[in-house]
Formats: sequence, structure tokens, C-alpha cells
Amino acid sequence: MGRTISTEATAEDRKLDSSGLRPRYLRDYIGQEKTKANLKVYIDAARMRGDSLDHVLFYGPPGLGKTTLAGIIANEMGTQLRVTSGPAIEKPGEMAALLNNLQAGDILFVDEIHRLNRQVEEVLYPAMEDYAIDIMIGKGPSARSIRLDLPKFTLVGATTRPGMLTAPLRDRFGVVGHLEYYSNEELQEIITRSAEKLQVKIDSKGAAELARRSRGTPRLANRLLKRVRDFAQVRYDGVITDKVAADALDLLDVDQFGLEQLDRHILETVIVKFGGGPVGLETLAASIGEDAGTIEDVYEPYLLKNGFLNRTPRGRVATVRAYEHLDYPYPGEA
Ligand code: ADE
Repeated sequence: MGRTISTEATAEDRKLDSSGLRPRYLRDYIGQEKTKANLKVYIDAARMRGDSLDHVLFYGPPGLGKTTLAGIIANEMGTQLRVTSGPAIEKPGEMAALLNNLQAGDILFVDEIHRLNRQVEEVLYPAMEDYAIDIMIGKGPSARSIRLDLPKFTLVGATTRPGMLTAPLRDRFGVVGHLEYYSNEELQEIITRSAEKLQVKIDSKGAAELARRSRGTPRLANRLLKRVRDFAQVRYDGVITDKVAADALDLLDVDQFGLEQLDRHILETVIVKFGGGPVGLETLAASIGEDAGTIEDVYEPYLLKNGFLNRTPRGRVATVRAYEHLDYPYPGEA
């Protein structure tokens, strides 16, 4: 079984999506106010002109709503959403075929767009800029290319690693939205609404407790809500109160800050094995037996944002807060 806390989408999340937890229109979308306000202007303007929307890039940690927003754009524009991802497309021809099957106004969502290989990415340049693809005919000296026109479509790219995008690709997005972790109040609102849709009873303190432990991430909040619901049904009277939520989440090893075992293992490793740091990301990853990219994308952003870890030029450093949370005496005090 996968980790509850992993922010990667699971089969169950996709089932949740079909149960209607994902907002379908901007007005139902909670949080990300800046991105939402910008999108609304661009969508309204494009609709007024009867034009397609400019290409959009969303970046930020996983689980914050990049795919949801792509779906919302399609719904608001009244067009179709096509979904693919960087690692799913291996050959330039596959990308060309995808593009060639689009209709005017369609949204092509490319998740993990930083993982497109270079040749596939090069198909996107003329497609995004001129709505055309160049197809090579023949081989060797007699090879020539013909240009195929495409309908005006909108590429929506999503990435957790904006720094890994090449400049030519990055420059072709007219709209860039940075998604940030949600506040506890926003998460509480999302949880309350999801509970209504799932027909689970939850009181405001229960929703607040869940929100506090969902590390600013709606995908996790919705997933934890389902787990806690099971718990409330089997062990209690079906209502999610703060006590029920706290008990269930303790059992799931999600602590009061939303940290799970691997988060604590990361912090503990920095503190115990590396004297609190600084320690380089690769060294830390090897010592834990996790992939450095996963630590950097999935675990570290939340630890940084919440003041458990600092990033310095010489490596990662555990903060006073990390020592206190894990009950180690802070050596800096002496
Ligand atoms: N469900 C998941 N993310 C959401 C959001 N941002 N707003 C409303 N419902 C959501």
C-alpha cells in the first residue's frame, strides 16, 4: 500500500474525482486567489473575443490543483480537455498525432511537462507559436519537411519543477500561475464541502483538525477525510469531531503538523547523522534510501515552508523547531 501522505495521485483519488469532489468551475474553486483572479480575466477576455486562451503554465508542489484548474479552464471555455504527461510521450510522432487530433479551442493538458524529452519538446515550439507542426518526409539528403496547420488550441502545462523547463518552452507560455500551499481556513472550507458531497457528518472542529494535518494540500485533505470517515463509522457514531479526526490521524501516523514517518525520518537523519546539518540533498537522500528528486519535490517544500528545515548554500539544516518537534535538545543553545 502506498503512503497516505504521498501527494501523487492514486487510483482512489481519480475515483474521488469522479465522485464530484473536484470543482468544475472557477466560482467553486477555493483558494489560489491570485491565480484564480488572473485566469478569470484571461478566460473572460478570450471568450469575449471568441478566441482560444493563451498557453498556460502552472507550477507548484503536487496536489494543489494544477489538473483541476486545467479541467476548469476547459469547462469555462466550453471546450474539450485532453490529458497527457511528459513521461507518457516518448516519440515526436506521438506528440504530433495528439496535436493533430485537437479541435479548435481544445485544452491539451501536459502534466509533468518538465519530463518531456528534447525531441518531443521541439514539436511543441511551432505548435505553440504558429499552430503548426513540421513533419519530416524521407531520410538523408532527400529528406524534406512539410508544414501541417493545427487548430488554435491551448496548451496547459503543469510542473513541480519550473527550474527544469528549458527557456524556449518556458517563454512560449503567455500565462504563468504559481500555486501555493492552502491556508488552514481554505482547507477547512474544502473539507467541509467535500464532506457534504460524500454525505459524511463533520463538525467545524473536526474539519479544522483535518485541515491542520493535511499539509496545505487539498488532495491529501480529501484522502484523509475518506480514511477518517471509515474510522468514524466503525469506531464512533459516524460523526467526525476533532477527537475522531485526531485519533484516526494518529493511527495513520500523521502528526499534528501533518508530518508523517518519512518527514520525521528526514529531520531525524539531519539531526542525528549529520549533526543538524548542513548536509547536501544527495547525501541525505542516499542515507534515507529515497530518491533525491522525490525529497526535493514532495517532502522538502512543506518542511521548508513550515520552518522545520532550512536550505543553505552548503546544504540542508534542521531548525530549532525540528529539534523541538522531535524532542532533541538543540545544540545551538549551549
Ligand atoms: N477540491 C479539491 N481542491 C479544491 C479547491 N481548490 N476548491 C474546492 N474544492 C476542491
